[in-house]
Amino acid sequence: MDPRRALSFGAQAQAYAAARPTYPVDAVRFVLPVHARRVLDLGAGTGKLTSVLLDLGLDVVAVEPDDEMRAHVDPRAVVLKGTAEDIPVEAGSVDAVVVGQAWHWFDRDAAMASVRRVVRRGGTLGLLWNLLDDSDGWPRELAEHIGMEDRLSFAQTADNSPYDGAPGPWRRQLFHHEQAADPDVVVANMASRSVVIVLPDAERAIRLDRVRELVPSGDFALPWVTDAWVSHFS
Ligand SMILES: C[S@@+](CC[C@H](N)C(=O)[O-])C[C@H]1O[C@@H](n2cnc3c(N)ncnc32)[C@H](O)[C@@H]1O
Repeated sequence: MDPRRALSFGAQAQAYAAARPTYPVDAVRFVLPVHARRVLDLGAGTGKLTSVLLDLGLDVVAVEPDDEMRAHVDPRAVVLKGTAEDIPVEAGSVDAVVVGQAWHWFDRDAAMASVRRVVRRGGTLGLLWNLLDDSDGWPRELAEHIGMEDRLSFAQTADNSPYDGAPGPWRRQLFHHEQAADPDVVVANMASRSVVIVLPDAERAIRLDRVRELVPSGDFALPWVTDAWVSHFS
């Protein structure tokens, strides 16, 4: 985990909010216990996952350390400044902790201890990643060009169990979905990636110019796969 990248996203919070995909509702349901009422979105960012949880009728606490990212979170949630390693809610007060696109940025042992403290018996830890479907065509070239880590081909080949110290065995499911996009959306999406944010200005500009050359013109569907993992607390 590179701490400079972990906390880099605020510089591109607007692009993140505008151009990152949401999460399919079935993937979100998959990582929740059936009885879920109050859930906590950890490393909530601009609230992509928070909004899906709210639309399911849940009470949501969104925890995010970065001020610029947190400012975008849907105000229907209880929005708190905080970190995964020191979650700022009472012990045993939520039915699930869910993490979108962020578990890999945490100190996982400390985060797991913190999650164990706040989740009630029978609850879950759910981890979600939106992976670009780089099976073929220009998305594959794009993923190569940017050096994207969250792409489907890596998830299929790597031994990528997200954490060995989970409360119970992991269950995993993949959910295909699409994002309505155009060249501006793809450029903004790539600009919101930590691997691009931390580049020197001139290099970043060259990298993003090349993105525009790689993508088709007009409107198109950008293919994603949500990689969803759930572990239950007994
Ligand atoms: C790639 S973004 C994901 C945002 C959001 N969960 C989503 O699905 O779009 C990663 C987020 O994790 C946050 N983050 C990084 N380190 C963290 C930590 N130790 N505890 C909590 N959040 C952290 C960053 O500030 C950033 O908002």
